[in-house]
Amino acid sequence: MSLISFENVVKEFDGRKVLDGLTFGVEKGEVFAIVGPSGTGKSVTLKHIVRLLTPDSGHVRVDGVDVAECSSRQLRKIRRRVGYLFQGGALLAWKTVEENVALPLKECDCLPDAQVAKRVAAALAAVELTDAAEKFPSEISGGMQKRAGLARAIVRESDVVLYDEPTSGLDPVTSVTINRLIKKLNQKLGITSVVVTHDLQGALMFADRILLLKDGKAVECSTPAEFAASDNKDVKDFLAAMKGEM
Ligand SMILES: Nc1ncnc2c1ncn2[C@@H]1O[C@H](COP(=O)(O)OP(=O)(O)OP(=O)(O)O)[C@@H](O)[C@H]1O
Ligand SMILES: [Mg+2]
Repeated sequence: MSLISFENVVKEFDGRKVLDGLTFGVEKGEVFAIVGPSGTGKSVTLKHIVRLLTPDSGHVRVDGVDVAECSSRQLRKIRRRVGYLFQGGALLAWKTVEENVALPLKECDCLPDAQVAKRVAAALAAVELTDAAEKFPSEISGGMQKRAGLARAIVRESDVVLYDEPTSGLDPVTSVTINRLIKKLNQKLGITSVVVTHDLQGALMFADRILLLKDGKAVECSTPAEFAASDNKDVKDFLAAMKGEM
Protein backbone atom coordinates (compact mmCIF):
# COMPACT_ATOMS: atom_id res chain seq x y z
CA MET A 1 0.00 0.00 0.00
CA SER A 2 1.32 3.43 -0.95
CA LEU A 3 1.82 5.96 1.85
CA ILE A 4 -0.12 8.55 -0.16
CA SER A 5 -2.54 7.46 -2.84
CA PHE A 6 -4.77 9.29 -5.30
CA GLU A 7 -7.44 7.13 -6.87
CA ASN A 8 -9.44 8.56 -9.75
CA VAL A 9 -9.59 12.02 -8.19
CA VAL A 10 -11.80 14.57 -9.94
CA LYS A 11 -11.85 18.23 -8.87
CA GLU A 12 -13.77 20.90 -10.71
CA PHE A 13 -13.68 24.69 -10.32
CA ASP A 14 -16.26 26.85 -12.09
CA GLY A 15 -17.24 24.03 -14.45
CA ARG A 16 -13.63 23.22 -15.38
CA LYS A 17 -12.11 19.90 -14.38
CA VAL A 18 -8.68 20.72 -12.96
CA LEU A 19 -8.12 17.13 -11.80
CA ASP A 20 -9.75 14.62 -14.10
CA GLY A 21 -9.29 11.09 -12.83
CA LEU A 22 -5.89 11.57 -11.25
CA THR A 23 -4.34 8.32 -10.01
CA PHE A 24 -0.89 7.81 -8.49
CA GLY A 25 0.85 6.63 -5.32
CA VAL A 26 3.78 7.92 -3.28
CA GLU A 27 5.83 5.24 -1.48
CA LYS A 28 7.22 5.64 2.01
CA GLY A 29 10.71 7.13 2.03
CA GLU A 30 10.85 8.39 -1.54
CA VAL A 31 11.36 11.83 -3.03
CA PHE A 32 8.45 12.19 -5.43
CA ALA A 33 8.46 15.12 -7.84
CA ILE A 34 5.36 16.52 -9.55
CA VAL A 35 5.97 18.56 -12.69
CA GLY A 36 3.73 20.08 -15.33
CA PRO A 37 2.80 23.37 -16.98
CA SER A 38 1.52 26.27 -14.89
CA GLY A 39 -2.14 25.97 -13.93
CA THR A 40 -2.35 22.17 -14.36
CA GLY A 41 -3.35 21.53 -10.76
CA LYS A 42 -0.06 20.79 -9.03
CA SER A 43 -0.82 22.96 -6.00
CA VAL A 44 -4.43 21.73 -6.03
CA THR A 45 -3.08 18.16 -5.84
CA LEU A 46 -0.94 18.92 -2.77
CA LYS A 47 -3.85 20.64 -1.03
CA HIS A 48 -5.92 17.45 -1.26
CA ILE A 49 -3.36 15.57 0.85
CA VAL A 50 -4.13 17.63 3.96
CA ARG A 51 -7.79 18.37 3.15
CA LEU A 52 -7.37 22.01 2.25
CA LEU A 53 -9.45 20.81 -0.71
CA THR A 54 -11.64 17.71 -1.07
CA PRO A 55 -12.28 15.70 -4.26
CA ASP A 56 -15.61 15.91 -6.10
CA SER A 57 -15.16 12.18 -6.63
CA GLY A 58 -12.43 9.63 -6.10
CA HIS A 59 -10.22 9.11 -3.04
CA VAL A 60 -7.09 10.55 -1.47
CA ARG A 61 -5.58 8.34 1.21
CA VAL A 62 -2.71 8.80 3.64
CA ASP A 63 -1.58 5.50 5.15
CA GLY A 64 -4.88 3.98 4.06
CA VAL A 65 -7.03 6.66 5.72
CA ASP A 66 -9.39 8.53 3.39
CA VAL A 67 -8.47 12.17 4.03
CA ALA A 68 -11.82 13.60 2.92
CA GLU A 69 -13.91 11.17 4.94
CA CYS A 70 -11.90 10.68 8.12
CA SER A 71 -12.80 12.04 11.59
CA SER A 72 -11.42 15.39 12.75
CA ARG A 73 -9.18 13.45 15.14
CA GLN A 74 -7.71 11.43 12.29
CA LEU A 75 -7.32 14.60 10.24
CA ARG A 76 -5.36 16.26 13.06
CA LYS A 77 -3.09 13.24 13.14
CA ILE A 78 -2.51 13.45 9.38
CA ARG A 79 -1.83 17.19 9.55
CA ARG A 80 0.65 16.62 12.38
CA ARG A 81 2.66 14.12 10.39
CA VAL A 82 2.51 16.04 7.10
CA GLY A 83 4.59 19.25 6.91
CA TYR A 84 3.76 21.77 4.18
CA LEU A 85 6.00 24.32 2.51
CA PHE A 86 3.52 26.60 0.77
CA GLN A 87 4.15 28.18 -2.60
CA GLY A 88 5.65 31.58 -1.79
CA GLY A 89 7.02 30.52 1.60
CA ALA A 90 4.78 32.82 3.59
CA LEU A 91 7.02 33.84 6.49
CA LEU A 92 5.49 36.46 8.75
CA ALA A 93 7.50 39.67 8.30
CA TRP A 94 7.09 40.86 11.89
CA LYS A 95 8.33 37.65 13.47
CA THR A 96 11.93 36.46 13.64
CA VAL A 97 13.11 33.31 11.86
CA GLU A 98 12.87 31.24 15.05
CA GLU A 99 9.41 32.62 15.88
CA ASN A 100 8.26 31.76 12.36
CA VAL A 101 9.63 28.23 12.66
CA ALA A 102 7.90 27.79 16.05
CA LEU A 103 4.46 28.72 14.65
CA PRO A 104 3.20 25.21 13.79
CA LEU A 105 4.14 24.06 17.32
CA LYS A 106 2.39 26.97 19.03
CA GLU A 107 -0.74 26.42 16.94
CA CYS A 108 -1.72 22.99 18.06
CA ASP A 109 0.68 20.95 20.13
CA CYS A 110 0.64 22.70 23.52
CA LEU A 111 4.28 21.81 24.14
CA PRO A 112 6.20 23.37 27.04
CA ASP A 113 8.42 26.30 25.97
CA ALA A 114 11.64 24.33 26.53
CA GLN A 115 10.42 21.60 24.14
CA VAL A 116 9.46 24.22 21.54
CA ALA A 117 12.90 25.81 21.78
CA LYS A 118 14.59 22.43 21.43
CA ARG A 119 12.61 21.44 18.34
CA VAL A 120 13.05 24.85 16.70
CA ALA A 121 16.80 24.66 17.29
CA ALA A 122 16.92 21.17 15.76
CA ALA A 123 14.91 22.26 12.69
CA LEU A 124 17.11 25.33 12.18
CA ALA A 125 20.24 23.21 12.52
CA ALA A 126 18.90 20.75 9.92
CA VAL A 127 18.63 23.57 7.36
CA GLU A 128 21.87 25.22 8.54
CA LEU A 129 20.21 28.41 9.69
CA THR A 130 21.15 28.45 13.36
CA ASP A 131 22.99 31.75 13.06
CA ALA A 132 19.95 33.50 11.53
CA ALA A 133 17.52 32.48 14.28
CA GLU A 134 17.02 35.99 15.58
CA LYS A 135 16.88 37.77 12.25
CA PHE A 136 13.69 38.99 10.57
CA PRO A 137 12.72 37.68 7.09
CA SER A 138 13.57 41.03 5.50
CA GLU A 139 17.12 40.72 6.84
CA ILE A 140 17.94 37.41 5.13
CA SER A 141 18.29 36.31 1.48
CA GLY A 142 15.60 34.59 -0.61
CA GLY A 143 17.40 31.26 -0.33
CA MET A 144 17.57 31.62 3.45
CA GLN A 145 13.85 32.47 3.54
CA LYS A 146 13.14 29.24 1.65
CA ARG A 147 15.28 27.33 4.16
CA ALA A 148 13.38 28.96 7.03
CA GLY A 149 10.17 27.76 5.33
CA LEU A 150 11.70 24.29 5.13
CA ALA A 151 12.53 24.37 8.85
CA ARG A 152 8.94 25.35 9.60
CA ALA A 153 7.67 22.46 7.46
CA ILE A 154 9.71 19.86 9.40
CA VAL A 155 9.51 21.32 12.92
CA ARG A 156 6.61 19.11 14.01
CA GLU A 157 8.85 16.14 13.34
CA SER A 158 6.72 15.30 10.34
CA ASP A 159 7.63 12.18 8.42
CA VAL A 160 6.06 13.50 5.22
CA VAL A 161 6.76 16.95 3.77
CA LEU A 162 4.94 18.58 0.85
CA TYR A 163 7.03 21.21 -0.92
CA ASP A 164 5.28 23.59 -3.33
CA GLU A 165 7.89 25.18 -5.61
CA PRO A 166 10.74 25.21 -3.07
CA THR A 167 13.21 26.66 -5.60
CA SER A 168 11.06 29.16 -7.51
CA GLY A 169 12.60 32.61 -7.71
CA LEU A 170 16.05 31.37 -6.71
CA ASP A 171 19.23 31.46 -8.76
CA PRO A 172 20.50 28.09 -10.10
CA VAL A 173 23.21 27.71 -7.44
CA THR A 174 20.85 28.36 -4.54
CA SER A 175 18.29 26.03 -6.16
CA VAL A 176 20.85 23.22 -6.12
CA THR A 177 21.49 23.91 -2.41
CA ILE A 178 17.77 23.66 -1.65
CA ASN A 179 17.39 20.46 -3.71
CA ARG A 180 20.35 18.92 -1.88
CA LEU A 181 18.80 19.92 1.42
CA ILE A 182 15.51 18.22 0.50
CA LYS A 183 17.45 15.08 -0.39
CA LYS A 184 19.44 15.30 2.87
CA LEU A 185 16.27 15.63 4.97
CA ASN A 186 14.88 12.65 3.07
CA GLN A 187 17.96 10.51 3.69
CA LYS A 188 18.91 11.56 7.23
CA LEU A 189 15.45 11.94 8.74
CA GLY A 190 13.65 9.48 6.45
CA ILE A 191 11.19 12.16 5.36
CA THR A 192 8.93 11.13 2.49
CA SER A 193 8.94 14.15 0.20
CA VAL A 194 6.44 15.31 -2.42
CA VAL A 195 7.99 18.16 -4.38
CA VAL A 196 6.02 20.28 -6.84
CA THR A 197 8.57 21.99 -9.04
CA HIS A 198 9.27 23.85 -12.28
CA ASP A 199 12.86 22.77 -11.94
CA LEU A 200 12.89 19.68 -14.15
CA GLN A 201 16.69 19.51 -14.21
CA GLY A 202 16.64 19.42 -10.41
CA ALA A 203 13.89 16.79 -10.35
CA LEU A 204 15.85 14.59 -12.76
CA MET A 205 18.78 14.78 -10.36
CA PHE A 206 17.23 14.42 -6.91
CA ALA A 207 13.85 12.68 -7.29
CA ASP A 208 13.27 8.95 -7.01
CA ARG A 209 10.26 9.26 -9.29
CA ILE A 210 8.70 12.01 -11.39
CA LEU A 211 5.01 12.50 -12.18
CA LEU A 212 4.02 14.61 -15.17
CA LEU A 213 0.59 16.16 -14.78
CA LYS A 214 -1.36 17.23 -17.84
CA ASP A 215 -5.06 17.92 -18.36
CA GLY A 216 -5.74 16.73 -14.83
CA LYS A 217 -4.22 13.31 -15.38
CA ALA A 218 -0.96 11.55 -14.68
CA VAL A 219 0.71 11.32 -18.09
CA GLU A 220 3.83 9.57 -16.84
CA CYS A 221 5.08 8.44 -13.46
CA SER A 222 8.57 6.97 -13.58
CA THR A 223 12.19 7.15 -12.45
CA PRO A 224 14.31 10.01 -13.81
CA ALA A 225 16.10 7.64 -16.22
CA GLU A 226 12.82 6.27 -17.56
CA PHE A 227 11.34 9.76 -17.70
CA ALA A 228 14.25 11.15 -19.70
CA ALA A 229 14.05 8.22 -22.14
CA SER A 230 10.26 8.10 -22.37
CA ASP A 231 8.50 7.60 -25.71
CA ASN A 232 5.39 9.39 -24.47
CA LYS A 233 4.69 12.43 -26.66
CA ASP A 234 3.62 14.64 -23.76
CA VAL A 235 6.81 13.82 -21.86
CA LYS A 236 8.94 14.53 -24.93
CA ASP A 237 7.14 17.82 -25.54
CA PHE A 238 7.58 18.79 -21.90
CA LEU A 239 11.29 17.90 -21.89
CA ALA A 240 11.78 19.84 -25.12
CA ALA A 241 9.90 22.86 -23.77
CA MET A 242 12.05 22.80 -20.65
CA LYS A 243 15.19 22.75 -22.73
CA GLY A 244 13.86 25.76 -24.65
CA GLU A 245 13.84 23.82 -27.89
CA MET A 246 10.24 24.48 -28.84
N1 LIG B 1 -9.78 27.53 -4.66
C1 LIG B 1 -9.90 27.65 -5.98
N2 LIG B 1 -11.02 28.15 -6.55
C2 LIG B 1 -11.15 28.24 -7.90
N3 LIG B 1 -10.19 27.86 -8.77
C3 LIG B 1 -9.05 27.37 -8.27
C4 LIG B 1 -8.85 27.24 -6.85
N4 LIG B 1 -7.62 26.71 -6.66
C5 LIG B 1 -7.08 26.54 -7.88
N5 LIG B 1 -7.94 26.92 -8.85
C6 LIG B 1 -7.68 26.83 -10.27
O1 LIG B 1 -7.20 25.54 -10.59
C7 LIG B 1 -6.19 25.57 -11.59
C8 LIG B 1 -4.96 24.87 -11.11
O2 LIG B 1 -4.37 25.64 -10.06
P1 LIG B 1 -3.02 25.23 -9.35
O3 LIG B 1 -2.75 26.30 -8.36
O4 LIG B 1 -3.10 23.85 -8.84
O5 LIG B 1 -1.98 25.28 -10.55
P2 LIG B 1 -0.44 24.89 -10.52
O6 LIG B 1 -0.25 23.70 -11.40
O7 LIG B 1 0.02 24.80 -9.12
O8 LIG B 1 0.21 26.17 -11.26
P3 LIG B 1 1.57 26.97 -10.95
O9 LIG B 1 2.66 26.17 -11.59
O10 LIG B 1 1.37 28.27 -11.66
O11 LIG B 1 1.71 27.13 -9.48
C9 LIG B 1 -5.99 27.06 -11.92
O12 LIG B 1 -6.73 27.35 -13.08
C10 LIG B 1 -6.56 27.77 -10.73
O13 LIG B 1 -7.08 29.03 -11.09
MG1 LIG C 1 1.17 25.99 -7.90
